[in-house]
This record gives sequence, structure tokens and C-alpha cells, in this order.
Amino acid sequence: MDEQQIIDGLKPVCLCKNIKKRVFLRHIAEGKRTLEELRAATGAGSGPCGGKRCTPKILTILEETGP
Ligand code: FES
Repeated sequence: MDEQQIIDGLKPVCLCKNIKKRVFLRHIAEGKRTLEELRAATGAGSGPCGGKRCTPKILTILEETGP
């Protein structure tokens, strides 16, 4: 993992729950492939905004990581 990947992993995704991108990447590497699975595994989407802010970012991470 290079420096840019480490910095990228520190990006906040779910602001309400303070969950960073690397947490989602780890769950994807372990086999989670859907928004619902990632939300259940991380707690993202259960904060005060109801997932309004993090859902688009989670979908983008899923797109970036491919099928
Ligand atoms: S940013 Fe994820 S629930 Fe609000």
C-alpha cells in the first residue's frame, strides 16, 4: 500500500458515525458487495442524517472497487 492509498483510506465517509474509507475497503475485501451489507457491517447510515451524506460515497466506493 502506497502513501496515497493510506491518505485515501483516511477520508471520512460516514460523518455522523465517523467511519473512514479504509473501513469500507476492508469489508469489501472480506466479501461485502452491497450497500446494505456495508451499512449493516459498519453502522453507516444510522446516524442523524439517515445516510443522506454517506450513501452516495459508499456507492462510489463500491463502483471504484468493481464487481
Ligand atoms: S453521514 Fe452516515 S449516517 Fe450521516
